[in-house]
This record gives sequence, C-alpha cells and structure tokens, in this order.
Amino acid sequence: MSAVAQIGETEDRQTINDTLFRVARDIMGKAHSPYSTFPVGVALLTPSGAVYSGCNIENASYPEGWCAETAAISHMICAGETEIAEVCVTAKKMDRIPPCGGCRQRLAEFGTAQTLVHFSDQSGIVETWTLEDLLPSAFSSRI
Ligand code: THU
Repeated sequence: MSAVAQIGETEDRQTINDTLFRVARDIMGKAHSPYSTFPVGVALLTPSGAVYSGCNIENASYPEGWCAETAAISHMICAGETEIAEVCVTAKKMDRIPPCGGCRQRLAEFGTAQTLVHFSDQSGIVETWTLEDLLPSAFSSRI
C-alpha cells in the first residue's frame, strides 16, 4: 500500500498530530484481531512527509499474527522509503498504548534516536516519547 497521506513541510505540530492520529484510527478499523479482540492502528511519518499505516493481523495459529507497527513498516518499505521520523500508535481498548518490545526493535531498524513515538487516547495524541527513551541501548547494525 502506498502513502495514505502527505504532510507538508510547513504544517504545525497540531496538524501533524491530528493527521497521524486520524490515519492510525482509520486503519485500526481494518484490524483482523478476532482472537485478542484488541485492534491496533499505527501511522508512520517519513522525512519526505509521506504517511503509511498498518493494523494488527492475527492468525488462528496465534504466534503467526503480526503487529500494526510491522504492517506499517512493510507498507513504508514497499513504497521505497526507509526512514521513520514519527510514529503514532492507537488502540480501541487501551489509552497510551506503547509499542511492544519486538516492535520497538523493528522501529529502531528504520528510526533514529530522535524518532518521535506518539501515544494516544480515544481522541488524539496525548504523550510523545523519543525512540531512544523507549528503547535505550538498542541493538543496531549502525555503528
Ligand atoms: N499489538 C500491536 O499491534 N502492536 C503493539 O505494539 C502491541 C500489540 C497487537 C498484537 C495482537 O494482535 C494484539 O495487539 C494483542 O496483543
């Protein structure tokens, strides 16, 4: 899937947050989560201003399911982009949902220490962390 939104260089913080939250919320509606009944939606912003989205996709063989962050990264990579500037995660049943440990590592593959990770409640972004704060001393092939 290609970019679902484009954010211009001159957009202010509130507009960026609102766009990322709306994109994450929209894709959360497509989640396939019949086993956990815990839909998750994610929006990724790249330095080009493109926004990619992803939802969790579960499987009857439980460990074969994958997270919303993973799906969003897949869309970004398939569109030819490799850097994450900002991430917004949202879940219907949990305010301020943080990315799971595995997804922090996946985000670190394409993010930087300064990548912003936004947590949301049911109406918008309410808290922002850096990836470095979420995953200190990350394992990385970048030296
Ligand atoms: N989930 C995500 O999509 N992202 C996370 O960072 C945390 C967990 C999904 C996986 C599973 O489908 C459901 O939430 C319950 O764990």
